[in-house]
Amino acid sequence: MQTIHLNTTTQIPLLGFGTWQLTGEEARKPLETALEIGYRHIDTADYYHNHQIIGTVLEESGLPREAVFVTSKVWRSDLRSEDLIRACERTLDELKLTYLDLYLIHWPNKEVPIMETLEAMQELKDNGLIRAIGVSNFDLQHIDEAVKTGIEITNNQVELHPSFNQKRLREHCAKNHVTITAYSPIAQGMDLKLKVVTQLAKQYEIKPSQVILAWLRQSGIIAIPKATSKAHIKENYESLLVQLKPEDMNKMDEIEQQPRMVLPDFAEFRD
Ligand SMILES: NC(=O)c1ccc[n+]([C@@H]2O[C@H](COP(=O)([O-])OP(=O)(O)OC[C@H]3O[C@@H](n4cnc5c(N)ncnc54)[C@H](OP(=O)(O)O)[C@@H]3O)[C@@H](O)[C@H]2O)c1
Repeated sequence: MQTIHLNTTTQIPLLGFGTWQLTGEEARKPLETALEIGYRHIDTADYYHNHQIIGTVLEESGLPREAVFVTSKVWRSDLRSEDLIRACERTLDELKLTYLDLYLIHWPNKEVPIMETLEAMQELKDNGLIRAIGVSNFDLQHIDEAVKTGIEITNNQVELHPSFNQKRLREHCAKNHVTITAYSPIAQGMDLKLKVVTQLAKQYEIKPSQVILAWLRQSGIIAIPKATSKAHIKENYESLLVQLKPEDMNKMDEIEQQPRMVLPDFAEFRD
């Protein structure tokens, strides 16, 4: 599996398995299938309430800890130093792991100074509980504020798909050595119907999801599609075999842009 560097010691696989809305025993089969097929990167969050089943499936898989990359996220009500440390310890306990590969601030919260949160993140890293520090749903200004603390931010996980390609944010993050993870990479199914996507799928004789996931990978963007059915899980994984031609990458880059899809009332986007 192709990876990119987050920091000097940690590499993240470019394709991961999203787990939002996969909870309890219903999550078991999709998770087992994903590991069987070859996924070695799982994206979760405290908010998803599925740490326990992920921990169980990982344990039962018999895979060595270092073979699987695990990301979790701290919720925005736990960004005070002591709360964050407690949340991380609980998360590890639930996942039955001794460390996370990547720990993200799930959403910014202007009520808590970013310095306090990132210093607590750094403490977790220094103590070996997490391997890399990241953020999620950070806009350009949030990134600037985080970078100013001097603490190394390695990743920003944001909504990103062909009809919402985050061009400016991607350029800004690249300048600041912050990698990007695309969440909702197929726009929860909506971008599968885009004309350019269906035309390229026909031309390459592949699935629309594979066009999108190949475009993300070839753009150096990590993607974490969520799927429940074995067919979807496999199809998404096999996007790793697809190579789009440069002119087709350009066509994907030029798709007409739409407003963001994920906009909860507490979001602090300023763009
Ligand atoms: N950081 C954040 O704030 C944040 C926010 C949202 C999401 N996320 C993360 O990103 C992950 C993915 O985002 P998402 O779940 O919102 O959306 P998504 O991955 O874009 O789309 C998931 C939906 O697409 C369907 N699907 C998957 N593969 C398909 C395929 N090959 N063909 C047709 N349909 C397919 C799934 O159906 P089936 O399930 O029926 O197979 C599911 O309904 C989440 O699970 C979560 O880990 C993070």
